[in-house]
Parts: sequence; structure tokens; C-alpha cells
Amino acid sequence: GALIVLAIIVAYLFGSISSAVLICKLFRLPDPRQHGSNNPGATNVYRMGGAVPAFLTLFFDVLKGMVPVWGSYFLGIEPLFLGMIAVAACLGHIFPLYFHFRGGKAVATALGAMFPVAWEMALLLIATWLVVFRISRVSSLAAIITVSLAPFYAYWIKPQYTVPVIMISILIIWRHQANISRLRQGHEQRMRRR
Ligand code: G3P
Repeated sequence: GALIVLAIIVAYLFGSISSAVLICKLFRLPDPRQHGSNNPGATNVYRMGGAVPAFLTLFFDVLKGMVPVWGSYFLGIEPLFLGMIAVAACLGHIFPLYFHFRGGKAVATALGAMFPVAWEMALLLIATWLVVFRISRVSSLAAIITVSLAPFYAYWIKPQYTVPVIMISILIIWRHQANISRLRQGHEQRMRRR
């Protein structure tokens, strides 16, 4: 019991570390929460600083989802609770303790949390994102379609994780509200190569 509570708290604290904010500081870029889409995520860091800081943001946001779930898995925590630990990491990214509870959309963190327990599914999600992105060149659309399919993939490949995957998908889609209204109005920016 205590171990699970501790793992959930650690996952939330890991999730709370905003890679985008820290990497932008390191690269002397403006605050990603006040530029572009105002979102502290790899997509917005790419708009501001290009591939290198964007890749680092993606890498560390994936890692902070991956590490707590991986650690908990090795400690022998059961799938039901691993799912909750994954949700906690995503909630940390969305409502970060150290950044006034104003975080991002948890796409990369959710992907990272999936790797240790369902790598086949993680690869399928990446493939889905890449296909939609190649066609549309819109990062948010790729994320929305990918997370909408995620519960079906889970039910098919890792049924024991269907419930937490549904919870995370709902969270991520809810965080894309502004993107969804921009998409509907045809205002969402395509990614330009830079
Ligand atoms: O992962 C976030 C992405 O789906 C959208 O980012 O900056 O275009 O709102 P952004």
C-alpha cells in the first residue's frame, strides 16, 4: 500500500518537471508558455528554437513518464496500479507542482509511461502519429487522432491497461481544446521546416 502511494507521488513529481521550460532557459529561448501556442511542449519549442531543443524536450518529457512506471514495474507493482502511476505522471505534466500548476498536454509523457509496460503499443502509437503528421503536418491533429485510437489499441494489445489508457486519452483530448477549435476554424498552424 505505502509503496504504491509513494510511487504515485514520485510519478506526479517527475511529471511536474517541465522539460520545455527548462530546455528553453538552457538555450536562452523565450518562455514557451508565452510564445506560439503558449504550450510547454516539444511542438512549441520546435516553433521557437528548431530541432535540437525540441528533441531534448521530447526526450525528457518521454523519460519522466517512463522512469516512474519502469521503476514501479521492477518493484513488482501490479498492472492496475501501474496504470494509476502513469496517470499520475501525466497529471504532473498537466498540473505541475513547481510551475504554478500550468503545464502541457502530456502527449510525450503518456507515450513514455507506456513504453515499460506496453512497448508494442507505444510503437503503434508513434507510427500512427507519424502517418497523420506526414499527411497533415499538424502536430495537434496527429496527437488527437492517435490518442483517440489508443483505447482501441489497448483493448486489442494490452486489455489490462484499457481503463488507464481511456483516462489518459480523455485528459489529453481535453487539453487540446484550443487546438480543436483552431482546427475547426482552419487556423491551426502547420509545422514549417526550420
Ligand atoms: O503535444 C502537443 C501538441 O499536440 C500540440 O502542441 O504547441 O501545437 O499546441 P501545440
